[in-house]
Amino acid sequence: MKIIIINGPNLNLLGKREPEIYGNQTFEDYFEILKSKFPQMELHYFQSNIEGELISKIQEVGFSYDGIVLNAAAYTHTSIGIGDAIKAIETPVIEVHISNTFSRESFRHQSFISPNAKGVIIGFGLMSYDLALQSFIK
Ligand code: DQA
Repeated sequence: MKIIIINGPNLNLLGKREPEIYGNQTFEDYFEILKSKFPQMELHYFQSNIEGELISKIQEVGFSYDGIVLNAAAYTHTSIGIGDAIKAIETPVIEVHISNTFSRESFRHQSFISPNAKGVIIGFGLMSYDLALQSFIK
């Protein structure tokens, strides 16, 4: 089973960025843990701070991979383009967020991803990614 985790802007700073919200661990370290926890999956990882690169990656994998775990970060709340890309592809997308976006500023309550996601996992720290991967196990 081929699954990709796609992270959006500023998530390359995990471990350094607002640790009281996002924790102390880098995503690269956490990705190693995920790979050892889900050996039955072929796991890939992509991060970009650029909206168009995220859309191109979604299009590239969206007709051949079995799943996308997407944390579009701030673009979640602004990007009609990423929302349209998810609508356009065949691969199911699980939207994840590290923090509970609903307990934060009101601009974080809107998502252009959710309407076309298969499911949404919010607020469990990095474990949100783990829970999303579990959802692909039949
Ligand atoms: C986030 C929540 C977003 O509102 C924020 O812009 C992020 C990270 C999260 O994982 O909690 O960059 O997607």
